[in-house]
Amino acid sequence: METDLLLLAGLPEEHEGLADTFRSMNPRSEPTPTIGLAALLTGDRAGLRRLLAQGPAVRHGMLRLTDGPTFHERGLIVADRLWDALAGHDAWPEHLSRVDVGAVPPGLDGWLALPQVRHAVRALGSADARTLLVAAADETIALSRCAALAHAAGRPVVGVRAAADDRAAITALVAHAAARDAVPLLVVETAGGTGTTGGEAAGGGPARLDLTGVPGPVLVWAPSMALRPAGQRPLLGVPSGPVPVEDRRTAWRAALPGPPGQDAALTARHPLDPALTAAVGEDVRSLSRLSGTGAGPREATETIRCRAGAELPDGVRLSSPAAGWDRLVLPGEPAAQLRDAVARLEHSALVLDEWGLRERARAGHGVRLLLTGAPGTGKSLAAEVIATAAGTDLMAVDVSQVVSKWLGETEKNLAAIFDAAERVQAVLLLDEADALFAARTAISGAHDRWANLETAYLLQRMDRFDGMAVLTSNLRANIDPAFLRRMDFVVEFPLPDEARRRELWRLHLPARPIADDSALDLLASVYPVPGAWIRNAAVAAAFLAAQDGATIRPAHLIKALAREYAKAGRPFPGVPAGIAGDREEQS
Ligand SMILES: Nc1ncnc2c1ncn2[C@@H]1O[C@H](COP(=O)(O)OP(=O)(O)OP(=O)(O)O)[C@@H](O)[C@H]1O
Ligand SMILES: [Mg+2]
Repeated sequence: METDLLLLAGLPEEHEGLADTFRSMNPRSEPTPTIGLAALLTGDRAGLRRLLAQGPAVRHGMLRLTDGPTFHERGLIVADRLWDALAGHDAWPEHLSRVDVGAVPPGLDGWLALPQVRHAVRALGSADARTLLVAAADETIALSRCAALAHAAGRPVVGVRAAADDRAAITALVAHAAARDAVPLLVVETAGGTGTTGGEAAGGGPARLDLTGVPGPVLVWAPSMALRPAGQRPLLGVPSGPVPVEDRRTAWRAALPGPPGQDAALTARHPLDPALTAAVGEDVRSLSRLSGTGAGPREATETIRCRAGAELPDGVRLSSPAAGWDRLVLPGEPAAQLRDAVARLEHSALVLDEWGLRERARAGHGVRLLLTGAPGTGKSLAAEVIATAAGTDLMAVDVSQVVSKWLGETEKNLAAIFDAAERVQAVLLLDEADALFAARTAISGAHDRWANLETAYLLQRMDRFDGMAVLTSNLRANIDPAFLRRMDFVVEFPLPDEARRRELWRLHLPARPIADDSALDLLASVYPVPGAWIRNAAVAAAFLAAQDGATIRPAHLIKALAREYAKAGRPFPGVPAGIAGDREEQS
């Protein structure tokens, strides 16, 4: 009888003559069959009443009743564009914003085998009313999971983007999904867009989603913290991870076929989610069609950088440093710590997955370093060297731009930055981060208390961070012990001793146009300055030399170094015997 009702309601859509006929039979001259007419045709008034009150077609919103003075004068209509959909056309109401989940990306087998995910697949196959909330920070990842779930349940999925309280859109979605025997997916739109942190931007806090009365399973995704499920409906959370290494490798193999071992190398370098890997593969293939060149790891790295760069927050700079270990002059222990930190990335699959330290010690993929030491001792440079050695980009954050005077903003800025760094898998450098992690003890003004709240956020976000984070600071004493404890490496950068100063001079000066090489040894022994001063003096001396004669003479170096002392407001110790000073420069 329900199908008959739908057919009856759809007839005016089928032929204008039928619409005319219904108009002549309708007491209010509307081109729709009335309930009275339906009652006449079915001959079962009680059954009809029941169906129109709670039958599936009405509950799913496929069949709607127009207003009317009496029950039997109300008209029966089919939901907007549903008649076309039932006829097999992919028709949708115009005002609906459709979301296409795309194909299922390769590399989700391990994820699909997780118990919670298997429950979700079973839920999609059942008729029970249930909200399946997909937990993913990123929309691309969430959509890939919806595609995989529906595929595993053997049903298509149809998605719509709408606000959580847009009941009309949700009703239309559910009706059209039912007409196609598909799983409905609601992508919750927030006022600030559907970005990762857009949720709170709406101002009113998380939106309320009430699907009470909606039949069957509904998939829902919302940006994090943007949604508060309400109402009478069982909720099932669907995690988006973990994705085992093997699956990430499968994803890379499918996205970028190449020589044996390439998939492993790509996985180590870009342990992306399979959904993102597939997107990068698309980028690379499309690029290679345009350029006619190869589609390999280098192109993959480039497109990842491009995708990431497009969504970087303010105050963040992404670069591809090329500074080898030989650029960094450090004593044995600090140097060894830096190398060990890089090695952690390489061996994370072995230690965490094969040896099981992920479970045993709750160890994560992330590596956290704190570099402390006097100004100009090479901390920022070390971050570049680390990124170079790890074969990744460097995401440098200007901490002063991140710290906001607006309550709550700093935390949001930090969250966006950490998310972005995880997406690109770049080494994250929070340079001169002291402003963020001053000891929590000294709470005086409102501003200080606020800074401490941020410290708390930073602490727990660092715990979860699954990439390499490098923080630098001039003042070890200022740093909260809770912070130090969470660091995997705390590396102290000492001022260079005489031998290292000699190395630093040689490193920063060109080998050829130096008049007197032994002068460098003398400079190293007489002036106890940090590496940055040596670097600056070397550059300045080279320019002085270029001005007069193209040979770098000791006098140039002395003059440039004296200027470094002056910059720092420190008295210049004078020129040692054995080096010609200004006199020679003038001759
Ligand atoms: N240990 C070092 N080895 C090699 N070069 C160094 C070293 N220390 C300083 N330099 C040179 O000085 C420049 C500036 O150093 P860098 O900016 O890395 O110091 P920093 O410790 O970050 O200083 P700050 O605390 O002021 O930020 C480097 O780019 C490099 O050329
Ligand atoms: Mg620095």
